[in-house]
Amino acid sequence: MNTSFIAEVLKKPPLGEDIIVNGWVRTRRDSGNLSFIELSDGSSLANLQVIAEAGLPNYDKEIKKLSVGCAVVASGRLVASPAKGQDVELQADSIEVVGWADPETYPLQKKRHSFEFLRTIAHLRPRTNALGAVARVRSALNFGIHDFFTQRAFCQVHTPVITTSDCEGAGEMFTVTALEPSQLQGVDPYSKDFFGRRASLTVSGQLQAEVYALALGRVYTFGPTFRAENSNTSRHLAEFWMLEPEMAFCDLQCNMDLAQELIRDLVGRVLQNCTDDLALFDRFVAKGLIKKLEAVCAADFVHMQYSEAVEVLKNAEKNKQFEYPVSWGLDLQAEHERFLCEEIAGRPVIVTNYPREIKPFYMRLDEGGETVAAMDVLVPGIGELVGGSQREERYDVLLARMEEGGLDPDEYSWYLDLRKYGSVPHSGFGLGFERLVQFVTGMNNIREVIGFPRSPGSAPC
Ligand code: 4AD
Repeated sequence: MNTSFIAEVLKKPPLGEDIIVNGWVRTRRDSGNLSFIELSDGSSLANLQVIAEAGLPNYDKEIKKLSVGCAVVASGRLVASPAKGQDVELQADSIEVVGWADPETYPLQKKRHSFEFLRTIAHLRPRTNALGAVARVRSALNFGIHDFFTQRAFCQVHTPVITTSDCEGAGEMFTVTALEPSQLQGVDPYSKDFFGRRASLTVSGQLQAEVYALALGRVYTFGPTFRAENSNTSRHLAEFWMLEPEMAFCDLQCNMDLAQELIRDLVGRVLQNCTDDLALFDRFVAKGLIKKLEAVCAADFVHMQYSEAVEVLKNAEKNKQFEYPVSWGLDLQAEHERFLCEEIAGRPVIVTNYPREIKPFYMRLDEGGETVAAMDVLVPGIGELVGGSQREERYDVLLARMEEGGLDPDEYSWYLDLRKYGSVPHSGFGLGFERLVQFVTGMNNIREVIGFPRSPGSAPC
């Protein structure tokens, strides 16, 4: 007999049939000559109730000692449950204990634990309802991304993790070296290093994605990216996953359209396919979450130019104190971004045409030269979810922008070549995957939506 997964058993119960399930005990309750065991195998939020009768050979010696976290293989007949709380239950004819979990030392017990505490046991926290639900939603979003782009004839490309270019030009990179600390001295120690020059972990796959977009038309890359920025906030990680589509023959409008379509599609999929997990978040993590997500799917995002956003914020300052200043030329902070979508628009907002000084060299210079064809998608509860732009496709303008930003054009000659040979208007964006998972689950802290969060001073496991 094959093993069944609890999610499938509950979805299409094979009533009257013998089945085998593997899993971990969530609770055990004894009543008369029976024990009721809630079993989880991680395939769904819901558990399967297993009934063990006192007549089972290992009842006194083992079954009555089962506690939270013990691993068992249970087999028996699936029947309709006579009691409230569940539709079906497994009447066990055998429960084999595979792995014990000493209740004296096992850190997870039936009570609710704080997310801060769970972070200290990253190796055990996926076993909790909330973190298990996050993992399933994350996986559903991951699948949704590939499905969305495959349906639209995008080609997935794998961009490198180790790179010698600084895409964002912000210098927030982790160096990759094979040298010993004692060799890292002198004028240019990296000339003797593995790659013969300084290499780093990528902050974005964009520049390499552009190479492929200008050959294959529509591509996307989706992988881990790294930022050595000292931002200890609830929406920053040092290692996070970024989804980056890049499209040839596509301007800023086409870029914004795709971002909106993508976000709404992914939210819609989760609403449809992760109902139990979302209900858990709605109940215990973020009240009203499902309504908020439904609203995202129902209406178009609000569009606003940066200058207009600054005006709106300045106006708001008459009645409200922001922590950070608002002034044309300064970047928007999370509090400003959230204010725009939570208080002004009541839904996601796309802000465009930021000042050139606060955006990277590759963004296309607007007419007049003061702003660039940038777009940030801001969402309630988070702020910036997406950052993107139309790319500068004009060789001379790009060269000037590089020089202005202090980049050595020789190092980026390959990138400049793309503008020399068959250059076309093209655009793309980066979506922070963890911020998306945060948005969809309502989780307050980004450290809860990735298995093993890396942030300043912290890299458990
Ligand atoms: O706005 P960013 O820095 O854009 C880029 O890196 C572009 N090269 C992307 C592109 O156009 N292909 O980052 C894109 C998104 C942000 O909007 C945010 O959601 C996320 O990546 N992000 C982070 N997420 C978690 N932790 C961090 N430290 C993040 N930094 C950016």
